[in-house]
Amino acid sequence: MKNILEAPFMVEMIRTATNMYAHGWDERNGGNISLMLEEAAVAEYLDLHSVLRTIPTGFTAPALEGRIFLVTGTGKYFKNVQYAPEVNLGIVRLQDQGRRADLLWGYADGGQFTSEFPAHMMSHVARLQVNPENRVVMHCHPANLLAMTYVHTLDERAFTRTLWQMCTECIVVFPEGVNVLPWMLCGTNEIGEATAEKMRTARLVVWSQHGIYGAGKDLDETFGLIETAEKAAEIYMKIAHLPRLNTITDEQMHLLEQRFGIKAREGYLD
Ligand code: 13P
Ligand code: ZN
Repeated sequence: MKNILEAPFMVEMIRTATNMYAHGWDERNGGNISLMLEEAAVAEYLDLHSVLRTIPTGFTAPALEGRIFLVTGTGKYFKNVQYAPEVNLGIVRLQDQGRRADLLWGYADGGQFTSEFPAHMMSHVARLQVNPENRVVMHCHPANLLAMTYVHTLDERAFTRTLWQMCTECIVVFPEGVNVLPWMLCGTNEIGEATAEKMRTARLVVWSQHGIYGAGKDLDETFGLIETAEKAAEIYMKIAHLPRLNTITDEQMHLLEQRFGIKAREGYLD
């Protein structure tokens, strides 16, 4: 068996968590990541029949039966992931219609996957239906997006248009826009179901007064989505209290659609 700490998926996960912490998106234990792994890739590093323990999930997700995920641990600090991956991360395989997760590696101090596991797994189901290549769900607490949910309307079209107007390339990076949930109790199946429903039409879902969820085909794409939305929110928070003399017009956004071969969400541009 090869050393799992050298597996490309593990190296990338550790780098991503470290980078998210460096961006200030994951204070304390804030944030969580789940990365779906290919069975053949995992089999190079782990005996897939060797189950360390079994953890109930509290939900069902039949579409994910047998799927393997590398997931951050609950209560664990992103800043520590690079120093003790085996304590702060775990690899689980969903079984029994997703009702239980077999631990194959990690959570070495007796811990378990993030409290947001329902939102992650339900979002994977939703995104895989839209794009079979989806592999990542990522949650974090970026300050400017969070701040924006206190001072900006939570109407999804208006919220999206404001972000698009803050940087020229926003509409290119997330042409489907961002969806927004009102404040809800985190760590529950209810917020998981609501997030997954929002994930059917966008890869970014804002949790008002809490943070953001992103989904994508790999860690880089997902990180980049959140990074771009957060940059736009940062510019908004810099200018929101100032008179706006200039903006990116809808006409200019239509030019961007043509130039980059993308299509803005139906009805979001005039
Ligand atoms: P966990 O430590 O359980 O991952 O929770 C962090 C968080 O951000 C909850 O929304
Ligand atoms: Zn959170």
